[in-house]
Amino acid sequence: MNLLFLGDIVGKPGRLAVRQLLPKLIHRERADFVVANCENVAGGAGVDPDSCRELFDAGADVLTSGNHIWRRKEINEYLDREPRLLRPANFPPGAPGRGAGLFATAGGTAVGVVNLIGRVFMDSVDCPFQVGDALVRELQAKTPVIFVDMHCEASSEKGAMAYHLAGRVSGVVGSHTHVQTADQRVLDAGTAFMTDAGMCGPVDSIIGVKAELALRRLQDPLHKEVRMLEPTLLIRETTAPPPA
Ligand SMILES: [Fe+2]
Ligand SMILES: [Fe+2]
Repeated sequence: MNLLFLGDIVGKPGRLAVRQLLPKLIHRERADFVVANCENVAGGAGVDPDSCRELFDAGADVLTSGNHIWRRKEINEYLDREPRLLRPANFPPGAPGRGAGLFATAGGTAVGVVNLIGRVFMDSVDCPFQVGDALVRELQAKTPVIFVDMHCEASSEKGAMAYHLAGRVSGVVGSHTHVQTADQRVLDAGTAFMTDAGMCGPVDSIIGVKAELALRRLQDPLHKEVRMLEPTLLIRETTAPPPA
């Protein structure tokens, strides 16, 4: 069977491209099952139910995500009731939604999908290797077709997950950096691996963000605290006297 994976879909341009091109791509590649990472689908960061529905309507079977999944509060309740939307499985127990699932192609082939997130240069979460082990073990009892979206910053951590799960899953493909790598291969154990699938988003940008916004943010020494606030507002906020 053929499984098609789309890396991070970014904002309106990404949604438009998916809507227009995904049906043709499914036909051309004879894709039996489509997994797409949606963490940037709403306004470039975050996920909302309407955007998810748009991607499902365009042909996505399962949506994976990453660190931006919690950006919008309305997604929590949707995560609990939409099993086709996954969030990384190694967030602490009690987080809304789920990080893996068993699905099926139109032809009836069972497909396991696991979404994990890395910890190198990212927020601290539960161990993706241990969580991945447990989920893959459960899915292996039901199907030999298992796909893993390993959402992380470090290429080493993605490679480590591929070797960790080699021979136990069909494929491990990375997401998050929005830049595609050219290292796709099949490991000796039979598992397909690619460090990062890249994004579905505007080419004339910095990883999908308008160049002037990304530049301003990266040149501002306080960018971590203020994100995209206007510089004038930043100065007022940071020079205000501390509360008594
Ligand atoms: Fe991400
Ligand atoms: Fe992303």
